[in-house]
Amino acid sequence: MKKIPDLKLSVLFILLIFIIQSISSSVFPLITIIAINLGYIKNPNPVIMLIFILITSIVIGVILAKIISKRVLKPITDLNEATKKVAKGDFNVQIEEIGIGKEIKEMIHSFNIMAKELKNIETFRNDFISNVSHEFKTPLSAIEGYATLLQDDSISKSERDNYIERIISSSKRLSTLSGNILMISKLENQEIVLDKRMFSLDEQIRSCILSLEHIWSEKNISLDIDMDNVIFYGNKSMISHIWFNIISNAIKFTPNGGLISVKLKNENDLVTVVISDTGIGMSEEIKNHIFEKFYCADKSRTNSGNGLGLTLVKRVIELCDGTIEVESQKNIGTKFIVKLPNVAKT
Ligand SMILES: Nc1ncnc2c1ncn2[C@@H]1O[C@H](COP(=O)(O)OP(=O)(O)O)[C@@H](O)[C@H]1O
Ligand SMILES: [Mg+2]
Repeated sequence: MKKIPDLKLSVLFILLIFIIQSISSSVFPLITIIAINLGYIKNPNPVIMLIFILITSIVIGVILAKIISKRVLKPITDLNEATKKVAKGDFNVQIEEIGIGKEIKEMIHSFNIMAKELKNIETFRNDFISNVSHEFKTPLSAIEGYATLLQDDSISKSERDNYIERIISSSKRLSTLSGNILMISKLENQEIVLDKRMFSLDEQIRSCILSLEHIWSEKNISLDIDMDNVIFYGNKSMISHIWFNIISNAIKFTPNGGLISVKLKNENDLVTVVISDTGIGMSEEIKNHIFEKFYCADKSRTNSGNGLGLTLVKRVIELCDGTIEVESQKNIGTKFIVKLPNVAKT
């Protein structure tokens, strides 16, 4: 079907006035001419006819203008009402996208997008504040509780050690949390990667695995490592967060005696790192949310995470123009595939 081109608002306005004027000034004279021709009016008085034509033209013109302007002005009055609501902080407004003319339809469409975005920001801000407060509150209450218990002189040495251990781990959790929040906010405000240097990527991943040895060896997790030697050009410390987070997740979500495999390939200026585990896996529903801030599938947070790890990973990869994919099956395992362009400095 051929699309009717959108009319410019000014042309449309002229057209509307023209239609109103033509109809209002021609209807009555036309009826009069027909009536005279048919013989209904004999010997018309020109003065009375003129006054009659004038009055009917005005009445028809006003009625037509009222009907048409209502149709034309409705979207603008709707927009006016909606803008007032947004100004008062109510972002739950959407206007029906009707209206004569491309400009008005576009204006309403943009307004609807703006209201939706403002609502998202508002929801995000509220969620963020409540998540941050919740995440800080839990370890702080633990520290307060164990410190209070430590004030009791009658507790045994092992109890004392246990409480101190818990205070230390809660403090570590707080420091990781504030570190992650600071890093995410810094990365979100950053658009380019600074401090790029050449470094050995396989060595970086190997030392990350080594730094986590105390956890995977305690769980008797086997490791299958197969990595090409790759010299990568990028921000070393930023990239290290990717491996640290994905590998610690793999260890955390893999039961005792499981297997974690790490593969690194470098082909045509593209580095591919595949980290897979034989852990608890994820359902489709969980998979859809893992990159969101503060998302933890385990709501009881027994896994000691704060749900910021993968958000950070995703942002770092985005900044490096790379991609991350997840394949996972519940109770079978998870595979993270990270691809990073490796364009060395020339
Ligand atoms: N290897 C994995 N196996 C199973 N689930 C995982 C794995 N990696 C991530 N997840 C899921 O993604 C969620 C978010 O991960 P992350 O952002 O690192 O947060 P955290 O580790 O602090 O919980 C985890 O809570 C978990 O539910
Ligand atoms: Mg994590």
